[in-house]
Amino acid sequence: MPRYHTLGSIPSKRHTVFKDADDNFLYEELFGTIGFDGMSTLLYHTQRPTQVKKILKSYDVSPKIAVEKNMKSLSLRGYEVAPEKDYLKSRVPVLVNSDCQISLAATSESLRDYFYKNTDADEVLFIHKGTGVLRTMLGNIKFSYGDYLVIPRGMIYQIDFDTDDNRLFIVESRNPIYTPKRYRNWFGQMLEHSPFCERDMHPPSELETYNEEGDFIIKVKKQDYIHEYVYAYHPFSVVGWDGYNFPYKFSIHDFEPITGRVHMPPPIHQTFESSGFVICSFVPRLYDYHPQAVPAPYNHSNIDSDEVLYYVDGDFMSRNNIEVGQITLHPAGIPHGPHPGAMERSIGKKSTEELAVMVDTFKPLMVTEQALKLADDSYYKSWINH
Ligand SMILES: [Fe+2]
Repeated sequence: MPRYHTLGSIPSKRHTVFKDADDNFLYEELFGTIGFDGMSTLLYHTQRPTQVKKILKSYDVSPKIAVEKNMKSLSLRGYEVAPEKDYLKSRVPVLVNSDCQISLAATSESLRDYFYKNTDADEVLFIHKGTGVLRTMLGNIKFSYGDYLVIPRGMIYQIDFDTDDNRLFIVESRNPIYTPKRYRNWFGQMLEHSPFCERDMHPPSELETYNEEGDFIIKVKKQDYIHEYVYAYHPFSVVGWDGYNFPYKFSIHDFEPITGRVHMPPPIHQTFESSGFVICSFVPRLYDYHPQAVPAPYNHSNIDSDEVLYYVDGDFMSRNNIEVGQITLHPAGIPHGPHPGAMERSIGKKSTEELAVMVDTFKPLMVTEQALKLADDSYYKSWINH
């Protein structure tokens, strides 16, 4: 993120000799993005991070597409995704395009047997259920219900869950994910009208350093393949780092809603952006306060963007029959809007407790085979009066 952070010990001058207390060399690594132009971090390892011992196997994990050209409104029962012990196997891709992949996961055990690194994409893990610790090579971040964990591409990590009933909503982005530019000044500082600020963004706070020799498996995702690499030293060998490229946590509960006298458009909920999509947070808030205001959204044609809503908690006022963990997809090309009766019901209401995450993509989404197994086939007709 566009902010400087440092953890552990680093030399006072970059690219100079750095040793530990026993006079052993420490090894510098530049961890950057977008060639050498994007955000980067300098880290210092107890061992060189290049020591590949063996390459095991490589295998295809690309999502199986069932509908390539989709124009149908879909509703997916996200909580029907089956629990799975293995973290990577638990991630079930549901909606995909060349910019992003949206997955659901009910991971029931901590990831401890191997390490994971996604070099294709930045990852946003939205924690719907569960608590634990995201353990990365740059340090640990504790998480709980409502946290977005933003993990830049290339970050080696594991996840410890305290719980076995965990639910994640995952967005992988082929392009870097940032907070919206319009909420930052030309130095990157978050402005006063931003619905959150730096105090709400939590970088790693605890650094675990290992100087251990052995067989350490890192499963590296690249071009939708997993390559299993065995390294000779523990990947969490960092004694300190500084820079701008690091994972962080932001809680949806810290998003301060922007409200108005009449209905405010979706961009006021925006939390993250990339060149291919935006992520928005719908949080409990006061409704519009014009005496004649219609709090339900108007019918709208997001004519050139697909809209994905993930329902987290509360009563979602514009929809009928919505369950926690459900996903709806409203595709580009056709209008959608409140369900029958929802507009009328909303008039005079003062506030909402709804909590949801929205992903609006600029390219159409393809639907996976796994998604179709969760789909309510009649959802597209749900705007008809009965
Ligand atoms: Fe919409």
